[in-house]
Amino acid sequence: MTDAADLLDAGERLDTDGLRALQLERLRASLRHAYENVAFYRESFDKAGVRPDDCRTLADLVRFPFTTKADLRENYPYGMFAVSRDKIRRIHASSGTTGRPTIVGYTEGDLDLWSDLVARSIRAAGGRPGDTVQVAYGYGLFTGGLGAHYGAERLGCTVIPASGGMTARQVTLIQDLQPGIIMVTPSYMLTLLDEFERQGVDPRETSLRVGLFGAEPWTEEMRREIEERFAIDAVDIYGLSEVIGPGVAQECVETKDGLHVWEDHFYPEVVDPITGEVLPDGERGELVFTSLTKEAVPVIRYRTRDLTRLLPGSARVFRRMEKITGRSDDMVILRGVNLFPTQIEEIVLRTPGVAPHFQLRLTREGRLDALTVLAEARAGATPETRDAAGRAIAAAVKDGIGVSVGVEIVEPESLERSVGKIKRIVDLRARQ
Ligand code: DLL
Repeated sequence: MTDAADLLDAGERLDTDGLRALQLERLRASLRHAYENVAFYRESFDKAGVRPDDCRTLADLVRFPFTTKADLRENYPYGMFAVSRDKIRRIHASSGTTGRPTIVGYTEGDLDLWSDLVARSIRAAGGRPGDTVQVAYGYGLFTGGLGAHYGAERLGCTVIPASGGMTARQVTLIQDLQPGIIMVTPSYMLTLLDEFERQGVDPRETSLRVGLFGAEPWTEEMRREIEERFAIDAVDIYGLSEVIGPGVAQECVETKDGLHVWEDHFYPEVVDPITGEVLPDGERGELVFTSLTKEAVPVIRYRTRDLTRLLPGSARVFRRMEKITGRSDDMVILRGVNLFPTQIEEIVLRTPGVAPHFQLRLTREGRLDALTVLAEARAGATPETRDAAGRAIAAAVKDGIGVSVGVEIVEPESLERSVGKIKRIVDLRARQ
């Protein structure tokens, strides 16, 4: 794609040596900024016996302590801020479902950087100035809506700020305003699919050509489903509010081979989730980020709890991360076997006769946890097809993951639909 190469920004044109040199210079500055301006980092570095100047190479970063979600919670709301309150232009929050939310802040410079990186992401997905982008991520404290919005404007696109919800209207907007690009969670895209069908509109015949899907884990099987049903390219966008929001990593449309981490601004590591030991590229573990240029809330070795592995650059110089398998928090341990909702997604979406909608119900049977997969029958599936689908899912889980689960094939359209981030696991154990 020569025109894409022409459009690359200065960071994307660096070679590996230039990138590593820039990262080191920025890393040292970011460590100093955190140490000098945030009491939490001063104390944690002092306790570990390290000073920002001890970081002389990128490998020295391992000497610095991790930062966790609990640290952010304990310093709620403004304890992690490195600039005075009058420099803060915006507040966002993590969408955490448990415990106190974490608050993040942005200076004018941070907002500028964020817009640039989301613009870079949309361009990597195939977006160009002049495109129309429907933003169906929620607007508000969640970073999805506003993050996508300002990035699309920065690229020179026309934004339709639809936000999440009002599903019938989303379809009308697509029909009437003819966006080429949609930014939405993959699960909400499936809700839109139902709505297209309900309105008798062929989803393959819309103006849409690309979707940037993120904010929740999704699989290659889901990509295939969305691409086929909508006749679009589906690419992955990753981010988290603690680091900046969407636009931390992005998949390129021409390769669709994992997400390039925008590592001129966010330095990634993958560590063993239990021991914290840094793993070599290529090995799976927990993703950890250090911000290199952020002003308001610098993060040093922030433990994301997202599981993936780092791979070498391809369409860009930046290393890639494989699609996220899941969060360590969403891992179910069944009779000693670890299981992620994405593994079930792969199986359900491969099974004939069931729709791409499923839920995992956790219960307790005696002393043991039990898991039931609820998968929705496709409209018109015969009782025989449903039975076969139920057996096929149970067998695939047993063979592929190594544990027995219950499977219920439920009526079409009976499972709750997503309007944003989907909740896959319904945990009934505490209620029993
Ligand atoms: O979800 C930011 C975002 C908005 C990313 C829109 C992409 C698109 P939080 O609400 O702070 O921020 O949630 C962050 O969501 O740690 C992951 O567990 C999960 N997540 C985000 N993107 C992906 C993705 C936004 N592409 C948490 N694949 C992260 C898998 C994702 N999980």
